[in-house]
Amino acid sequence: MFSILLAYATFGFMIGAQAYPPSFNSHKPGTEPAGHEWQAPGPFDSRAPCPGLNSLANHGFLPRHGKNITYNDISSAALHGYNYTDDVYEIFYILATQVFTNISTTGDPSTFNLEDLARHNTIEQDGSLSRNDIYFGDNLHFSAPVWEPVAEDLGLKGYGKEDRYISIETAAKAYKARQEAARKANPAFTVSFDQRNGTRGTTALYLATLWDYEAKAAPKAWVEAFFTEERIPYLEGYTTPKHKNTDFIHEFVVAIEDLVGSD
Ligand SMILES: *[C@@H]1O[C@H](CO)[C@@H](O)[C@H](O)[C@H]1NC(C)=O
Ligand SMILES: *[C@@H]1O[C@H](CO)[C@@H](O)[C@H](O)[C@H]1NC(C)=O
Ligand SMILES: *[C@@H]1O[C@H](CO)[C@@H](O)[C@H](O)[C@H]1NC(C)=O
Ligand SMILES: *[C@@H]1O[C@H](CO)[C@@H](O)[C@H](O)[C@H]1NC(C)=O
Repeated sequence: MFSILLAYATFGFMIGAQAYPPSFNSHKPGTEPAGHEWQAPGPFDSRAPCPGLNSLANHGFLPRHGKNITYNDISSAALHGYNYTDDVYEIFYILATQVFTNISTTGDPSTFNLEDLARHNTIEQDGSLSRNDIYFGDNLHFSAPVWEPVAEDLGLKGYGKEDRYISIETAAKAYKARQEAARKANPAFTVSFDQRNGTRGTTALYLATLWDYEAKAAPKAWVEAFFTEERIPYLEGYTTPKHKNTDFIHEFVVAIEDLVGSD
């Protein structure tokens, strides 16, 4: 699990008012931006335990090989794919300089390969929504057995047109249920108090990334594509949103905490 909010909670807000780069990846609704079509990774491409970063790589917003990733790569990809503002990049930067130096296997501490993020209890943690715990051997790749019950809780199975959105309440309950299931299944389950905020942060992050402002909820079809194919759901109607910043993510963390508590 990629707990960006772990760093967020630790380092607090780092807002820098910086010039906003022009947006560029216009595309017709229902189509993928030219040059950024989804492609599954090849056998030698590096991928992270994080569907958000992997989706950026699968669309070529990050280098498709997923290797030797720099701060500029991250900031530009998060802008072009999700329209995250510089304060969100700042968190990536803190991660890149304070944390990634310890986990990078590139030989250059200012870069990392996406799979480096799977190092347990640095960024990756137990209780991911879509990855198994390291105790079971593989905490890097999508795990259908882990995801299926989460998908069930999110109502992704056989829903109708009138029932096509995920509310914060539903997402918060699914998060809580996955935490409880992981704790039960894994005798070595360890998630500290601070890390628990980080895991709420990952739910906040996917909601923020896939939020439909008009519906005030996350479309199920978007969440499904994002987790199971690591695809930005352009084909299902996703459009690059108005910019989003840490305040936006923070609101989700607080809402989830209000709904399910902080432990
Ligand atoms: C990544 O960097 C290493 C070390 O500089 C280099 O050997 C390798 O070719 C680079 N890989 C890619 C895909 O750029
Ligand atoms: C590795 O991480 C620890 C704890 O976050 C930090 O104290 C240390 O300075 C880091 N080491 C390097 C080489 O960055
Ligand atoms: C990204 O956000 C900026 C700032 O709000 C906005 O001007 C721009 O149109 C957005 N990009 C896209 C592609 O919508
Ligand atoms: C979790 O992090 C948020 C910031 O996103 C903070 O407002 C909240 O107080 C934290 N909760 C706990 C229990 O540490």
